[in-house]
Amino acid sequence: MRNTALAAGNGGSARAAASEPNNGRIIQMSRIYKSYGKGQNKITALSDISFEVGRGEFVAILGPSGSGKTTLMNIIGLMDAADSGEYALDGVDVSNARENSLARLRNAKIGFVFQKFNLIPKYSALYNVALPLMLQGRSYRAAKSEARETLERVGLGDRMKHKPSELSGGQTQRVAIARALVGGCSLILADEPTGALDQKTGAEVLDFMQELNAEGRTIVMITHDVNIAARARRIVHVEDGRIVY
Ligand SMILES: Nc1ncnc2c1ncn2[C@@H]1O[C@H](COP(=O)(O)OP(=O)(O)O)[C@@H](O)[C@H]1O
Ligand SMILES: [Mg+2]
Repeated sequence: MRNTALAAGNGGSARAAASEPNNGRIIQMSRIYKSYGKGQNKITALSDISFEVGRGEFVAILGPSGSGKTTLMNIIGLMDAADSGEYALDGVDVSNARENSLARLRNAKIGFVFQKFNLIPKYSALYNVALPLMLQGRSYRAAKSEARETLERVGLGDRMKHKPSELSGGQTQRVAIARALVGGCSLILADEPTGALDQKTGAEVLDFMQELNAEGRTIVMITHDVNIAARARRIVHVEDGRIVY
């Protein structure tokens, strides 16, 4: 469901805006700046970042260590705010939103996949996947049922009761992907999703992300590895906190 009430009407024809409030764009960033520290210690992590991601795209953000990828990911994922600039997520201007509405949007719109999986160790795969749905207000029963379906989708129908420590790295990352998929999120945001996996398992996870994209999921993947970035359909190169091409 689109949020028409808060949709930005900037740019594009009125008719296009009426049928597609954000012109099909999930990420719209304009002139984003972010620095850390003050005075002599000030480090500018992002300078003048402007880019857009459309619905259904698979974009890699590629850059060397220290180029600002994690900073950018945190801003895209509503975990940190820019110092200046504009950011609309799925048509909702979040530049000046408050923390509680950011948290709600983050949970509803973004599925995260991290290098280190970030699952809750003491919970089963099923409960890990059901949790974000319960946070969205779904009943335990409904959440479990959707979690079960999604785990079957990622090929883990026979591992639902297992805890992360009882699964292989590849299986664990598939649980994390299932968690990112539930609840109809608009965007999958993956930070070095194969960084903790061996090459073969990593390749399988990337195959799976390509499959999800072929089914229409929007994916933004952060990586320092050009071979991994090559799996995306578009690459945004970041160097020294700037998009270089
Ligand atoms: N919390 C922080 N405090 C101070 N400097 C930071 C902080 N986080 C990142 N930086 C600096 O910002 C720049 C970009 O970092 P980062 O976004 O982590 O890059 P990447 O993920 O591409 O390695 C680097 O120079 C880094 O040292
Ligand atoms: Mg990083």
